[in-house]
Amino acid sequence: MADIAELIDDQLAHDLNGTPELAKIRHLVPSVGTFFTSLPLEQAFFVQDAKRAISSRRLVSPSFNDVRLILNTAQVMTLAGGEERLQLVTLDGDVTLYEDGKSLTADSPVIPELLSLLQRDVHVGIVTAAGYADTSGAKYKERLAGIIDAVRNSSTLTPEQKRGLLVMGGESNYLFRYSVEQGTLVYVDQAEWVLPEMAAWEEGDVQGLLDLAEEVISSCRHVMNLNGEVIRKDRAVGIIPLPGKKMVREDLEEVVLGAQRRLEFSAVGRKIHFCAFNGGSDVWVDVGDKRLGVLSLQRYLGGITGRQTLHVGDQFASAGANDFKARLAACTVWIADPGETVEVLRELCEYMDKGHARFV
Ligand code: IMP
Ligand code: MG
Repeated sequence: MADIAELIDDQLAHDLNGTPELAKIRHLVPSVGTFFTSLPLEQAFFVQDAKRAISSRRLVSPSFNDVRLILNTAQVMTLAGGEERLQLVTLDGDVTLYEDGKSLTADSPVIPELLSLLQRDVHVGIVTAAGYADTSGAKYKERLAGIIDAVRNSSTLTPEQKRGLLVMGGESNYLFRYSVEQGTLVYVDQAEWVLPEMAAWEEGDVQGLLDLAEEVISSCRHVMNLNGEVIRKDRAVGIIPLPGKKMVREDLEEVVLGAQRRLEFSAVGRKIHFCAFNGGSDVWVDVGDKRLGVLSLQRYLGGITGRQTLHVGDQFASAGANDFKARLAACTVWIADPGETVEVLRELCEYMDKGHARFV
């Protein structure tokens, strides 16, 4: 663990020095991504070992989940104690904040943790693929009612802290912010937050991309005789199961890979960023992705960096996963269910309260 932490520090030093190609870890693991911060892996191992008895096991070797949780702990440790203050926590919706397809209700155990972040002057951005073009935000207000009501009713949060609640919907398409005057989410005009690279997209290309995605998905539905219905939205095309039916994982993966390949080699797919992913029971191709969603929030909030941002999500396997792209814009933790989100946020706040000195 200490050796790996050292390799990560070596990469950070080389990146800072303008010699990224000399980082040892890039030679050992050419596909490795960029690390935004050091990771105190040794300390994190001890924390997880105390919970999971990893070193006491004799027959079962350290698993994927052991490693995932050690990395998560290490990441929240540095963010809590880093030299640069953590300023933004972005969270995925389905599977991260609530069960797949469900809503964030008043009784959710994650609500007190989100309020704790706001209380510590950390912005909370819900970055979800779920895209609803209606600028009244009715559907987001309905699905996120638990946290919106909790923020409105809070007597401890300051008005500025309440304004720290934001929602980026459709990956990077629709921004809403909590308004103290209105006591709910209010649509923020695209002109106020859109990144130059997104502003340069031509509407004709966007629709061309969606046309192509619709064609590929419809053809898969027909050829594979899927129990699904193709849906076209303003900024997305998807296939959702017919009422009472189910599409199996292999079919969903086939649709994602088919759409991904066809689009990435198309002229419009080279111009417009898109995200094709398997949502567990459905498949979507969205215009934009969570990298752009997180970057837009960072910029809108005054220039927050990747080192000051944490994205919490469940979809990080590289093929057909939508949180994966956020890895390019922010530090990340990979959770497996909403219960783990509560745990990791609790851990983060605990480390923030204990302060810097204990971990670094
Ligand atoms: P996330 O986990 O919060 O990013 O939400 C992903 C889920 O939102 C998908 O699995 C879909 O079930 C649902 N969803 C609803 N509308 C859309 C859309 O327009 N694009 C992508 N996903 C959508
Ligand atoms: Mg999710």
